[in-house]
Amino acid sequence: MSQPPSSSPIILGVSGASGLIYAVRTLKFLLQAGYAVELVASRATYQVWQAEQNIRMPPEPGQQEEFWRQQAEVKTGQLTCHSPTDVGANIASGSFRTLGMMVIPCSMGTVAKLAAGLSSDLLERAADVQLKEGRKLVVVPRETPFSLIHLRNLTVLAEVGVRIVPAIPAWYHHPQTIEDLVDFVVARALDQLQIDCVPLERWQGHT
Ligand SMILES: Cc1cc2nc3c(=O)[nH]c(=O)nc-3n(C[C@H](O)[C@H](O)[C@H](O)COP(=O)(O)O)c2cc1C
Repeated sequence: MSQPPSSSPIILGVSGASGLIYAVRTLKFLLQAGYAVELVASRATYQVWQAEQNIRMPPEPGQQEEFWRQQAEVKTGQLTCHSPTDVGANIASGSFRTLGMMVIPCSMGTVAKLAAGLSSDLLERAADVQLKEGRKLVVVPRETPFSLIHLRNLTVLAEVGVRIVPAIPAWYHHPQTIEDLVDFVVARALDQLQIDCVPLERWQGHT
C-alpha cells in the first residue's frame, strides 16, 4: 500500500454516467488511506443518484460533505465538496497544487467537453487545469456501446496524456460481490495515479 506522499489533494470529479458506486468506493479508499480529496459532482449527477439509489443528493457543498461521507461510510480524512457552478474555486486554478484528478464515472458528455477544452463547469475546468499544468488526469468512461464520436473523443484525450480506464471489471480474481467488481476498476484507475490503497489481491501469475 502507498502512503499519502504530501498534503496536496486529489481531485475527484463525478459526472452523470451510470455507476456512482465507482465514485463512492474511490472516495472511501482515498479518505481511509489519508488522502485529502476535493470533490466536484456535475449537475447531472443529481438525477443519476435519484435513478440508481432513489437518493436526493443535497445541492449545497456544505451538506454534500456529510452526504458523501455517509455513502462512503468514512468519517476520517479531509474532504471538501464544491458546487459545479463555482468556477472560482481553488481547483479551478493551476496555482492550487494537486496530485492529479480522476473523473469517475465519466459520461460521454464530459469526455466530449474535456476533449474540446470547454471548461463549462468546475469539473471540466479542474480537468482542463490538470492538463495545462501537465498533471495526471484519469478518466473512467462508462457507456456501451461506444459511438465513433465517443471513440474519437477518447482518442483525443489519450493523445494528450489522459489515462483512460474504462469501467470494465475482470473475473480472474473471483469476485463475490458487486463491490469486488467495482473495486477492481477503482484499483486499476488509482494505479494510474500511483496510488495503491485498495485491499485487492494482485495477480501474481499462475500458482
Ligand atoms: C440514470 C442516468 C444514467 C446515465 N448513464 C449514462 C452513462 O452511463 N454514460 C453516459 O455517457 N451518460 C449517461 N447518462 C446521461 C448523462 O447524465 C447526460 O449526458 C449528462 O448531460 C451528462 O452531463 P455531465 O457530463 O456534465 O455529467 C445518464 C443519465 C441518467 C439520468
